[in-house]
Amino acid sequence: MTPHSPATNPKVPPAPPGVTKKVRVSHLQQMKEAKRPIVVLTAYDAPMGQLADAGSADVVLVGDSLGQVVHGFDTTLPVTMEMMILHTQAVVRGAKRALVVADMPFMSYQVSPEQTLVNAGRLMKEGGAEAVKLETNNDRIMDIMRSITEAGIPVMAHIGLTPQSIHSMGGYKVQGRNSEDATKLKALALKAQEAGAFALVLELMPRDLAKEITASLHIPTIGIGAGSDCDGQVLVLTDLLGITEHPPRFAKKYVDMRNGTLRAVRKYSRAVRERLFPSKIHEFE
Ligand code: KIV
Repeated sequence: MTPHSPATNPKVPPAPPGVTKKVRVSHLQQMKEAKRPIVVLTAYDAPMGQLADAGSADVVLVGDSLGQVVHGFDTTLPVTMEMMILHTQAVVRGAKRALVVADMPFMSYQVSPEQTLVNAGRLMKEGGAEAVKLETNNDRIMDIMRSITEAGIPVMAHIGLTPQSIHSMGGYKVQGRNSEDATKLKALALKAQEAGAFALVLELMPRDLAKEITASLHIPTIGIGAGSDCDGQVLVLTDLLGITEHPPRFAKKYVDMRNGTLRAVRKYSRAVRERLFPSKIHEFE
């Protein structure tokens, strides 16, 4: 092990007592039953996967939000299978306790059940993911999802605002606000459960609707912009860290890393220009 490996770095706190066991898909169900909120956080590389793990997240999601967060695209649509596999491999090297779920990117599961099975298999076999996530906002995708859950691949479904459908949805808007849309979302949630999903992400919908869906299912719901009655919550890592320039209203910044990083880089630039760095302690005889 190198002096900086997570296991030996004294600056990285270990997971708190009681949450040291490897998290499996079945534990999420038990957590719902025990009313213990499920903590989900996105991560895109090994150090952040390790920190999410050490910070006691139950699930680390390698979200296709990495298209925007890491690669600077405007949407998640350009994300490829190769990108997802590479980032999942890195996260898996860091996150040892948390369940690692990898997003299936746009057009990796929309074409056919056969292609979906191959791609979900790649995320698990090559990426090392323990489950995959699909945006399941219509019946056709629900049927495709069923074909991979029946093949033994654990699937987290995702309804409400589904960012891969951003162009057909016409923007990042709260979903299920009128009774017709709310009824559709409730039906989709039940279908996701019937099709074998082990958990369901509810994104950007009224709190009362998310509460009703959560109560109607035996699988856990994970909310993002869906209020506090879901069985768990997910946040995008860079929103939590305060790196995102214009975060969504539902996100909470727990630390201001954007300004902290800017301050640090400015300090470093000044120190180099004034020949204050490196100093004696950073030099070799
Ligand atoms: O891609 C992602 O990060 C996600 C979460 C926001 C749920 O899908």
